Amino acid sequence: VKVENIRNFSIIAHVDHGKSTLADRLLEVTGAKKKNSGKNQVLDALEVEQERGITVKANAVSLLYKHEEETYLLNLIDTPGHVDFANEVCRSLSASGGVILLVDANHGVQAQTIANYHLAVGKNLKIVPVLNKIDLKHANPEQVEQDLFSLFDILPEDVLRVSAKLGIGIDSVFEHIIKKIPPPESCRDEAFRAHLFDSWYDKYRGALNLMFIKDGEVKLGQEIVSCESKKIYIVKSLSLLTPEEKNVKKLIAGQIGLIGMNMRNSKEAVIGDTYHLKGSPTEPLEVFKKLRPMIFAGIYPSEQSQHVALRGAIEKLVLNDSVVTFAPETSPALGHGFRLGFLGLLHLEVFVQRLQQEYQAEPIITAPSVTYKIKLKNMKNILKQHGGKEIISVSNPKFLPEPNHVEEYFEPTVLGTIITPSEYIGKIISLCIEKRGIQKSSINLDENRIMMTYQLPLSEVVVDFHDHIKSLSSGFASFDFEEKEYVSTNLVKLEILLNGVPVEELSNIVHARNAETFAKDLVGRLKELIPRQMVMIAIQGVVGGKVLARETIRAYRKDVTQWLYGGDVTRRMKLLKQQSEGKKKMRSIANVNVPRDTFIRVLKRF
Ligand code: GTP
Repeated sequence: VKVENIRNFSIIAHVDHGKSTLADRLLEVTGAKKKNSGKNQVLDALEVEQERGITVKANAVSLLYKHEEETYLLNLIDTPGHVDFANEVCRSLSASGGVILLVDANHGVQAQTIANYHLAVGKNLKIVPVLNKIDLKHANPEQVEQDLFSLFDILPEDVLRVSAKLGIGIDSVFEHIIKKIPPPESCRDEAFRAHLFDSWYDKYRGALNLMFIKDGEVKLGQEIVSCESKKIYIVKSLSLLTPEEKNVKKLIAGQIGLIGMNMRNSKEAVIGDTYHLKGSPTEPLEVFKKLRPMIFAGIYPSEQSQHVALRGAIEKLVLNDSVVTFAPETSPALGHGFRLGFLGLLHLEVFVQRLQQEYQAEPIITAPSVTYKIKLKNMKNILKQHGGKEIISVSNPKFLPEPNHVEEYFEPTVLGTIITPSEYIGKIISLCIEKRGIQKSSINLDENRIMMTYQLPLSEVVVDFHDHIKSLSSGFASFDFEEKEYVSTNLVKLEILLNGVPVEELSNIVHARNAETFAKDLVGRLKELIPRQMVMIAIQGVVGGKVLARETIRAYRKDVTQWLYGGDVTRRMKLLKQQSEGKKKMRSIANVNVPRDTFIRVLKRF
C-alpha cells in the first residue's frame, strides 16, 4: 500500500459512548473479524477490561479497506476513555493523523468528549465527528449536533450518524476517514525512523514495542538504536496486528508494527522514544511531556516471603504503564513493600487488579495520598532534620513534619469540568462546596444542560469524587479534570489508633477544617469493615493527641456455629471453612485482624 493510501486514526469518546463497538464493526467490515464470532471487543484484550468494561491499554490494529479500486491501509489506534488514562490517549494520538470524535446521540457531549477533543485539536489532528446509537428511542441527534456546533464550531452537515450496534452508517465512517484524515508524512526513501508509542511485556518474548514507522524501512536482524538511551538492539521479530499478530520480514514507512528485540529490562522501552538504524542517526520525532503520578499508595505483599515475586510482577506491569513510579518502603505493621505513584484511584485499582489476575499476587494497598508541598520554618535545626531544604514534598503521612516545624502547607488543585442536566445542579454544587471547590464558570450548554468549572483540591477528587457525581445524578453528569497550581492550605495528620496503638498505615493527611468529620467517618467505617473478634477493639481518630472520634467493636463469641443447634453438619462445616478462609484474607495489626482491603475500602463510599 502506497503512503498516500495510509490513514492512522484513533477513536475518542466518553466512556460507554460505544468506541469498542464501533471498532468491532470496522474490523468486521474489513474482514479482520468475523461477524458474530462471539469474541466481542477484540481490542479490549486484557482480562481487567473485559471485567470492568473499560479500555485500559492503548492498542493498535491494521485494517485493509478497498474503496473505488484503491486499497487503503487503515491503522486504528485504540484509546481509553476514562479520565485516569489521559496519558494513554495522548500517546496514541501522537501516532495518528486524525480522530473519530464519537458521541452518544442519547447522552450527548460529556466531560471527556470535551477533554479529548481539546487533546486532539492541540495536536493539530483532523476531526471526524460521529454520532452513535441513533437507533435508540431517546436519541436526539439534532440537539447533539447543535451542541457540537456551539462548543466546537462543528457544522451539522459534517456530522455522521451511525449505530455501531446495528451496523448502520459504517461505510460512511470509512469514507470520511479516507477523505478527511491526511496520510502520514512518511518517506520510504529516507533513513529508517520509528516512533515507539506503546510497549508491553510478554512472559516469553520480553518487551514488545509497538512502533509507528515514520520513514524508511526495517528488516529482521538489523541493528536499531534508541535516541533516548543510545542503546543498540537487534530486531528479532516484526509483525503487524490484524488484530492477530502476523509476522512479516520487514516493516515500511507508514505502517504500525510490533517490534521484538533483545530488550531484557522492561524499563528500557521509553514511550515516545525514536529509533533509527545503527550508523544513520536522526533527530527524535517528538519529545513527550512526561506525565507525573498524582496519587501515591503503599503496596505490600500479604506474606513477606512473596516480596521478591511482588517486586517482579510490579516491574513487569510498570513496563505497560510508564507513568507508574515505584520505590521501596517499609512499614512497621506490613513489613517491606513499595510506594507506587498513579494518575488516579481507578488507575491504582486497575493496576492492583492486574497484579492479582496476571501475577496471582494478593497485595495489601494502603490509603492513597496526593503530594503536598511543605514550607519549613527557616531555622537551622529544623531544616537539618528534613535534609536541608526549605520546601519539601510529602506524599506519605508518615513523613508529615511536626506542626511546629511548618511555616506553610500547600496542596495541589485541579480545574474540574462538570456537565450535568440542570435538575441535579443543586446537589452537585453542594458536593463541590463540601469538597472545598471554588466555582470558576457556569454556562448553559443547551436548554437543560449546564457546564461548570470548579477549582478543587486534588485530594478531594482523587478518591471517589467522580463516582459521587455519578451517583448524585443517576449517572447523567460527567466529570473530567486537569492539573492546576498548588495553593496554600492547612493540613493535619489524622492518626488511627486500634486499642491505643497508632496504625501508621491507616493514617491520613487531611485538611484541618475537615479533620473531625473525616475522623468520625473513617472510624465509623472501620467499625463496619473490621469484623468482631475475640477481644474488644477500640478505634480512635486522633489529631495532635486529641481524640476526635471513637468507636468500639464488641468482642465476638467463640464458636460461629453455636447458634446452629445440632443437626446440619454440612452447614456447620461450611461455616467453619468460611471462617478459616476469612482468616487468610486478614492481616494482624496491633493484635487486631484487619481485612487486607480495609486500607483502601475505608476511603471509598461508592
Ligand atoms: P469504554 O471502552 O469503557 O470507553 O466504552 P466504549 O466507548 O468502548 O463503549 P462500548 O463499545 O463498550 O459500548 C458501551 C455500551 O453501548 C454497550 O453496552 C454497547 O452495546 C452499547 N452500544 C454501542 N453502540 C451502540 C449503538 O449504536 N446502539 C445502541 N443501542 N447501543 C450501543
